[in-house]
Amino acid sequence: MFLAGPLHSQAVITAIGAYVPERVLTNADLEAMVDTNDEWIVQRTGISERRIAAENEYASDLAISAVRNLVERYGSDISDVDYILTATSSPDTVFPSVSARVQAAFGILACGTADVQAACAGFVSGLQMANGLLLGGLHRKVLVIGTETLSKITDYTDRTTCILFGDGAAAFLVETAADGQGSFNASSVSTQGESGHHLYRSALAPALGEFPLQASGRIVQNGREVYKWAVTNVSEGVKTLLEANGMRTEELSWFVPHSANMRMIESICDRTGIPLEKTLHSVTNCGNTSAASIPLAIDAAVKDGRLKRGDSLLLYGFGGGLTQAGLLLRWTL
Ligand SMILES: CC(C)(COP(=O)(O)OP(=O)(O)OC[C@H]1O[C@@H](n2cnc3c(N)ncnc32)[C@H](O)[C@@H]1OP(=O)(O)O)[C@@H](O)C(=O)NCCC(=O)NCCS
Repeated sequence: MFLAGPLHSQAVITAIGAYVPERVLTNADLEAMVDTNDEWIVQRTGISERRIAAENEYASDLAISAVRNLVERYGSDISDVDYILTATSSPDTVFPSVSARVQAAFGILACGTADVQAACAGFVSGLQMANGLLLGGLHRKVLVIGTETLSKITDYTDRTTCILFGDGAAAFLVETAADGQGSFNASSVSTQGESGHHLYRSALAPALGEFPLQASGRIVQNGREVYKWAVTNVSEGVKTLLEANGMRTEELSWFVPHSANMRMIESICDRTGIPLEKTLHSVTNCGNTSAASIPLAIDAAVKDGRLKRGDSLLLYGFGGGLTQAGLLLRWTL
């Protein structure tokens, strides 16, 4: 079931930044690691390459570089940021949180910090929460970050999963609108915890019930089930969110689904009637970067001029949980 509807909002995005690690892992590189080939990977996923963090480079390092990039590009003053929300499934440490590490790196003085764990729906969930914090009135400037070093939790002996994942980070600065006119128009959420065993990161607990793998700390997934779930449920979720806001697909400037797999995106477009040309994604060159995939896609579109001030965007995250989070907003940069 979906909870969807229009939002009260005072939130506007005032700056963005991104960072991807230097090392590129191509399909040819993967051919040397597991029994696979470029043709199979491209045909099934649309992925050509991914970025991989260095051995001593962690989710917080990527997040800090993304925030530094934001400051350099927009000249933003982040000394008075009053909350940091970081979406990640691959934090350096569970605590301190990545958000706390970012606060320390920039010496921000009076600032709340928390990490958001909603897998690939994490970044959109973070934006939804930031809007709530700003509406509450105590906070005025929130950093929302999506950062992943999935290469550190990927099983590179499992050819059905290791071809998918990559590393990267991006950050949005979300502030209270000076004129009180927020740009977050509608939002939706949904969780199907009962299907969570189809996609999980095996944890400290010994094998339990439907979560059969031992404590490897790696990503485990039933790709076929996740694929089926996504094309059916995400398509429904997208339609529900648009209907809840009385919007037609033609009114959208851009659809930004989580970049899990190009074929999945094509299928969701097909089912929702959103033209594929209207999607922003980061899947071809970054693979699936979970919480970072949506802001990385947006960052690329800002840089190459496709995304313009005033455009209407539908952001839609989905993945482990199984979680979904959607947000309709007007671009304000
Ligand atoms: C992972 C995924 C690409 C696999 O594609 P698929 O068509 O479902 O493939 P299957 O697992 O059914 O395997 C089909 C065949 O390809 C083989 N295969 C699997 N991975 C392979 C690889 N990397 N290279 C070559 N062959 C591979 C399988 O062994 C199987 O062979 P068989 O028919 O001889 O048994 C696809 O299921 C997927 O994208 N799922 C969603 C994953 C995802 O996006 N997760 C994150 C969501 S947020």
